[in-house]
Amino acid sequence: MRISFIGLGHLNSAILAGLLAKGFPRDQISATVHSAESATVRGQEFDLNVVATQTDPAANKTAVADADIVVLGVKPVHIVDTAQDIADALKPDTTVVSVAAGIPLTTLAEALPQNQPLVRTMPNVALTVGKGAVGMAPGETVTEDQLVEVEKLFNGSGTVFQLPEDQLNTMAAVAGSGPGYVFRFVNALAAAGTQLGLEASVAQELARLTVVGAGTMLDSDDADPTALEHSIATEGGVTEAALDSMDANGFNQLIVDALKANIARSEELGA
Ligand SMILES: NC(=O)c1ccc[n+]([C@@H]2O[C@H](COP(=O)([O-])OP(=O)(O)OC[C@H]3O[C@@H](n4cnc5c(N)ncnc54)[C@H](OP(=O)(O)O)[C@@H]3O)[C@@H](O)[C@H]2O)c1
Repeated sequence: MRISFIGLGHLNSAILAGLLAKGFPRDQISATVHSAESATVRGQEFDLNVVATQTDPAANKTAVADADIVVLGVKPVHIVDTAQDIADALKPDTTVVSVAAGIPLTTLAEALPQNQPLVRTMPNVALTVGKGAVGMAPGETVTEDQLVEVEKLFNGSGTVFQLPEDQLNTMAAVAGSGPGYVFRFVNALAAAGTQLGLEASVAQELARLTVVGAGTMLDSDDADPTALEHSIATEGGVTEAALDSMDANGFNQLIVDALKANIARSEELGA
């Protein structure tokens, strides 16, 4: 299995780090970036020969020529040009994986040879700490065996959920942006603590540690957030009083509205 990373920014670096951490051989990986400077930095970081298109305009074509999987990790605005650039160099059975937000499979398919196996993924940023959630929508011509190989890409960095493409925006609204909501919650918890009398630095640290602790309690396959909530919120107690206040103020509806806004924006961007 040879894997080619086109672009080695935040996202593709996280996938590559996960692969290397579970012992994937370096000599079966090729990688490119745009700038010579990035090539040096990423090359040293991963102990790999990373080639810059700035110094070798054919770098992407060379990198994909013998690949079984190509992971396109450039910004969405560059993905069509990049796909067109590598199109002639791909083997017919090479699976092209996109991590680009908002770019539909049909757009990618138009830029690539007919029937090229394609997979669109939507990873979240927690991939960088090996705890990512990844939505994966298969293209029409990709085989089950090829999908299994793509799924293995994320084994060291996240958990994959295979979904129809029309559910990817919702998946992204829940998990793609989800870490952002949690970070906002930490800040809101800290701000509330400060407003109610704690020193700001203490409130911030308490809020951060609380979410890390709660997240760690959830970090097993059989963890049940409802059971955990009930174990803390005893009847008539202080946590229940706070949760009742959240319910009365429409906490759940607030999340539904936030996801709707997220999905609407995705649709605007993908249109
Ligand atoms: N970051 C996230 O949390 C996240 C989450 C979900 C999906 N995504 C998707 O992941 C993709 C990459 O995002 P990112 O945050 O990783 O971006 P990024 O950090 O800016 O990385 C982009 C990479 O692409 C390289 N590049 C640009 N043009 C290239 C070309 N022609 N050939 C080869 N490499 C080229 C850049 O090289 P230089 O370093 O030289 O500029 C850089 O290594 C996007 O499509 C985004 O939608 C990101």
